[in-house]
Amino acid sequence: MNPVKVGLLGLGTVGGGTLNVLTRNADEIARRAGRGIQITHAAAKAYDPSKLSGLDKVEISDDAFAVVDNPEIEIIIELIGGYSPARELVLKAIENGKHVVTANKALIAMHGNEIFAAAQKHGVMVAFEAAVAGGIPIIKAVREGLAANRIEWIAGIINGTGNFILTEMRDKGREFSDVLKEAQALGYAEADPTFDVEGIDAAHKLTILGSIAFGIPLQFEKTYTEGITKIEPQDVEYANDFGYRIKHLGVTRMTDKGIEMRVHPTMIPHRRLIANVDGVMNAVLVNGDAVGPTLYYGAGAGSEPTASAVTADVVDVVRALTTDSENRVPHLAFQPGELVDLPILPIEEVESAYYLRMQVEDKPGVVARIATILADSQISIEAIHQKEPAEGDSTVPLVMITQTVVEKRLNDALAAIEQLESVSGQIMRIRIERLDG
Ligand code: HSE
Repeated sequence: MNPVKVGLLGLGTVGGGTLNVLTRNADEIARRAGRGIQITHAAAKAYDPSKLSGLDKVEISDDAFAVVDNPEIEIIIELIGGYSPARELVLKAIENGKHVVTANKALIAMHGNEIFAAAQKHGVMVAFEAAVAGGIPIIKAVREGLAANRIEWIAGIINGTGNFILTEMRDKGREFSDVLKEAQALGYAEADPTFDVEGIDAAHKLTILGSIAFGIPLQFEKTYTEGITKIEPQDVEYANDFGYRIKHLGVTRMTDKGIEMRVHPTMIPHRRLIANVDGVMNAVLVNGDAVGPTLYYGAGAGSEPTASAVTADVVDVVRALTTDSENRVPHLAFQPGELVDLPILPIEEVESAYYLRMQVEDKPGVVARIATILADSQISIEAIHQKEPAEGDSTVPLVMITQTVVEKRLNDALAAIEQLESVSGQIMRIRIERLDG
């Protein structure tokens, strides 16, 4: 049988990795897929031929729309990234009856509902394993491997750049901006690195995980997003003193009131496996009612790890080319007519324990006044430490851990504490997740 012809859009970090993996492992991949897979056309504005193999069989142009319009091509791999023209290219490919494989989390989180509806109408597949947690096959695990379960919650380190920054700050005391530059040079960071450090990239990925876990439409705009830029070295140290690590976590959980969807710095007990996932590595904990907690770990970014997921999707598509479109694995895990519009909880409604750090005057009665405000709001303190003042400073950091409280109540109490004359500046807060299945 002739090889399946594939058009590749983008020859950057992931596009180049995909071409190299498909070239290097061509025989083994064909034995798995049941057919050869050949990238025959690629579109790229710029590329470095010295880093690419198999170019002799690829016709390269800078016109991505010509590739999606080429009638010989059956599968389009979209690795340009961003919202536009990726959206237009993917929709055009679908309209032309081509299957699509993409690593574009921003595109799926923002426009996935529209794209999947178009794919269903035209009877084609849109595969997006590489969009979440790079090389970890987490979409396949949740969508297929855990299909028996009611998923209770998912918590993941799903941005490699942010995890690399937090790890280097903690282990080597390095500066935030210096580590970020290294992540960019290694090809981990997004084109706009604020997507990494402000949690937008992780929120795109969490949006996708929440949908396939609970069978709800993609709703990126309802995902609470908070970055890591406000974390100070002292918080890393104090978290450690309390027995916690700070990680940038994406959490989605089914509760009686609705679904939590949130990305924020999170303190995790340091003995949890996921608290020890360092550097650019990602990890996703999934808790299912039947299976209990399961953990998936691996490289969340980078050229060939991401290419691994892209290529596996291409193999899946090739295997399913002859299946009736109604009998394929549904894009969002649940049959399209079975998606439900459950409410997504605003962050004020979410319950959590908190780490709090405030700068207070070092004199009698201050801690008592703060404790009274918390007690009046029915917020229990689990642990409290007053730290040493810096030399010549009359104020000291006061750090504490609260028991679980609804965020709205905590906000009111913290606003009252910030009004006290003996408290200076804003109170730092970090949510705590114990992640005990
Ligand atoms: N910028 C992303 C990260 C790339 O650092 O995880 C993978 O999606």
